[in-house]
Amino acid sequence: MEDPVKNVKKLAAVKAIDYIRDGMTLGLGTGSTAYWAIQGIGERVKQGLTVRAIATSVQSDSLAREAGIPIVSFAEIDHLDITIDGADEVDEKLNLIKGGGGALLREKIVASATLFYIIIVDETKLVPRLGKFPLPVEVAPFGWEMTSLQLSKLGCKPVLRSVNDKPFLSDNGHYILDCAFGEIVKPALLHEQVNAITGVMDNGLFINMADVVIAAYKDGSTKLVERVSG
Ligand code: 5RP
Repeated sequence: MEDPVKNVKKLAAVKAIDYIRDGMTLGLGTGSTAYWAIQGIGERVKQGLTVRAIATSVQSDSLAREAGIPIVSFAEIDHLDITIDGADEVDEKLNLIKGGGGALLREKIVASATLFYIIIVDETKLVPRLGKFPLPVEVAPFGWEMTSLQLSKLGCKPVLRSVNDKPFLSDNGHYILDCAFGEIVKPALLHEQVNAITGVMDNGLFINMADVVIAAYKDGSTKLVERVSG
């Protein structure tokens, strides 16, 4: 029997794929929701869609190649037309927390190069205020203890992400500190404060970046919310 949550994620991904047109250069996200977008794009490519793509992680790059999606490098392009990615939290202004899968730096580089950034989530990711999900912060391994100390002064207790008792390493060779701030009242300010700390590569707050969020619900419905600029 198929997992119902998986089905919900797939539903959001299918809606997002409708935005893709022939000739586009795409950004491919990371995670269990973006997985469905990659599979769906792969199917469309097999049916004759001509696109090329850059992935936000080594894992998604492999998935895309397996699915038959042509992969390019940043040296070959000057922008991405559409990126489809997941998120860990989405607030009412479409600000995001990302990085649960540890790909936040690549995800932000790809998102920043993108003309139209689509976020796909299941309903559990929608929150009135960001912060229940600990904010992932990607840091240089060198001196990470000092970076962690500086982060704690902003009002959190950073936890070094680990796998099998060893520090988790991002695709860029960095560590991730998961920082539980609780409710984040001023996400844009916190984003600036965190990134101002030496040793921080970037953090998982994505402010004013998503153009559209497609949320899928257990009852099979979807809701599309566009960012109101300004
Ligand atoms: C990876 C991410 C993912 O987009 C986020 O963790 C959501 O993943 P999933 O779709 O598996 O819930 O930011 O760094």
